[in-house]
Amino acid sequence: MRADVLLGLQWGDEGKGKIVDVLTSKYDIIARFQGGPNAGHTLEFDGIKHVLHTIPSGIFHKGSVNIIGNGVVIDPVIFEKEIIAIDNLDVEMSELLISKKAHLILPTHKLLDAASEKSKGKNKIGSTLKGIGPTYMDKTGRNGLRVGDISSDNFKEKYEKLKKKHIQILNFYDFEYELDDMESKWFESLDTLMRFPHIESEHFIHKSIKQGKKILAEGAQGTLLDIDFGSYPFVTSSNTITAGACTGLGIAPNQIGEVIGIFKAYCTRVGSGPFPSELFDEIGERLGRIGNEFGATTGRPRRCGWIDLPALKYAININGVTQLNMMKADVLSGLDTIKVCTHYMLNDNKIDYLPFEDNEKLTPVYTELKGWEKDLMHISSLDEAPQEVHDYITYLEKELETPISIVSVGPDRKQTFFR
Ligand code: GDP
Ligand code: IMO
Ligand code: MG
Repeated sequence: MRADVLLGLQWGDEGKGKIVDVLTSKYDIIARFQGGPNAGHTLEFDGIKHVLHTIPSGIFHKGSVNIIGNGVVIDPVIFEKEIIAIDNLDVEMSELLISKKAHLILPTHKLLDAASEKSKGKNKIGSTLKGIGPTYMDKTGRNGLRVGDISSDNFKEKYEKLKKKHIQILNFYDFEYELDDMESKWFESLDTLMRFPHIESEHFIHKSIKQGKKILAEGAQGTLLDIDFGSYPFVTSSNTITAGACTGLGIAPNQIGEVIGIFKAYCTRVGSGPFPSELFDEIGERLGRIGNEFGATTGRPRRCGWIDLPALKYAININGVTQLNMMKADVLSGLDTIKVCTHYMLNDNKIDYLPFEDNEKLTPVYTELKGWEKDLMHISSLDEAPQEVHDYITYLEKELETPISIVSVGPDRKQTFFR
């Protein structure tokens, strides 16, 4: 048995949470492999809308096992809030296991994130201010604290040592802060983190694979936010790609099965950085309004634009995508014409890839497809969709050389069609 991977192919918020929730009944284990509370994964079912940040999106399926893997970074305060929010729902939560090797986001990591962003001024990354960058910096710098450290006798000592280092760095910045309250809340919230089994998740996963259990690795962010392959420096600090599932869970490359790539029928981005097919007109505004494009974590409006094929092809290649899921097709209803970016112009040259330099200077080259009027949110099968929807799907499959196995036409579990 192999582990499947599900991840975003654009700049995040493609609808990963929804699809993981829909697919969980086919799997025994759902495991997050990277990122942290910068993620906001939205699920909707039975009239409940719920946003998860650290907890895998299989949590609402009793009988499944959910794992927060070693590649994830955890803020215990946000984790506690997530647990309380789930406890408040009238839904049974499935089992949740946490890797001892997952790194902890300290209050001072959040302060460092904020101080760094402030110092960058208009060149800021537009981070979610959750402390993601500084925590991964401490991980690679070999200074980090991990979940397994909480139970050690000298945890407080290790914490103080790292905090002291952070305060020295904070002193370099022109940045005022109040730490005491954040710190006491952080220590209180560790009790909630301790309520769940802390395990060596790689062993658990290896054993499960041998036993023939079905595993789905759930990505956060998107390929174009990957630390190596995204639009650096406007990226997150982890590997959001299939390879990240190997390092973030301890799954060997030859144990990866299907790679499910999620994309929106158009494109969005939240935070700074290049976005060649971004729209600044009334169509962009319309996509944002009808698509309700506001960040699930920060509430910031998402920038909107047309679908970008060179960027998607790049993401498909980097991840080894074997099947695609197209989300939010319903949002395109009511447009006369749908544009698709097929190339870019760079200094009078037509190119079909994202170049190292000058991503800000790329001008998109579009092809046009006929739009459709019909509202897709209420159809009960794809057969009820207008021909133009089928033409759009067929065109994308041909260009992307990958089958589209799911089309989503609304936020609810039920608004999902398998092809
Ligand atoms: P994730 O981070 O990839 O899990 O995606 P987010 O949850 O941040 O953003 C996706 C948003 O689109 C959420 O508000 C979802 O409820 C919503 N959504 C997902 N699929 C669809 C769809 O097919 N149509 C519409 N209209 N909304 C969708
Ligand atoms: P999900 O999992 C969309 C963006 C931020 C910023 C950049 C760096 O919900 O798809 P960070 O806080 O990671 O240092 O921010 O990455 N970003 C996301 N954008 N969806 C996400 O997650 C994101 N997580 C981070 O807006 O531009
Ligand atoms: Mg999101």
